[in-house]
Amino acid sequence: MGSSARWTWVSWLKIVVFLLLCAPAVAMVVAVVSGRAGPNPIEFLTHETGEMGLRMLMLGLMLTPMRWWFKSTVPIRFRRMIGLFAFFYVIMHFAIYTVLDQQLDIASITEDLFKRTYIIAGFVSLVLLVPLAITSTKAMMRRLGKRWLSLHKLVYVASIAAVLHYIWLAKGDQIEPLVYAAILAVLLGMRLWRKFRRG
Ligand code: HEM
Repeated sequence: MGSSARWTWVSWLKIVVFLLLCAPAVAMVVAVVSGRAGPNPIEFLTHETGEMGLRMLMLGLMLTPMRWWFKSTVPIRFRRMIGLFAFFYVIMHFAIYTVLDQQLDIASITEDLFKRTYIIAGFVSLVLLVPLAITSTKAMMRRLGKRWLSLHKLVYVASIAAVLHYIWLAKGDQIEPLVYAAILAVLLGMRLWRKFRRG
């Protein structure tokens, strides 16, 4: 925000949202340090960060439909922050898996990557999110112009890959990943419906 920008209620709301989205990370650290994370803190952290990454992606995809409903651009002003939080939680998730779980054993990670379909899906999602995070700045938006919008449509593919990752890794009780799949289907379906209705 430039120095000439006005300090509005949206600016305050941004601070509140920022703190709210940091809270799960703090809660995770507190749970691990206090021993409340259970017998396997690495597993706990992998699950919590993965879940938060997915939630942030879904939340980010809710902003455009909110703009249509409320006929206001205010939700869009939270898009970058929420997108970057999704990236933050996903990077933490990846780091916990590679550093803490696999102890940077490249051979074992590569084996996992080729052997487990759910790891491939997670990897695809992560790789697609990288260019989106890199091009999230205002300068990049300006530089890329219309291409920025096209590039950021990759978030749809990244979200589908993330949901597939969750569906494929879940053993037994499949309800939660399917709930995410349903939410994503609605969020993407709304976009398709609007596109075709408008022609
Ligand atoms: C290279 C990238 C990734 C790797 C290596 C990876 C690895 C893992 C592993 C090992 C688990 C635990 C599996 C188990 O319990 O058996 C997991 C769970 C999960 N991951 Fe990933 N992941 C990746 C990317 C992602 C991305 C991009 C997202 C979402 C945006 C994501 C969301 C999740 C979710 C939601 C869970 C399940 C959490 C739960 O059980 O509550 N992952 N991931």
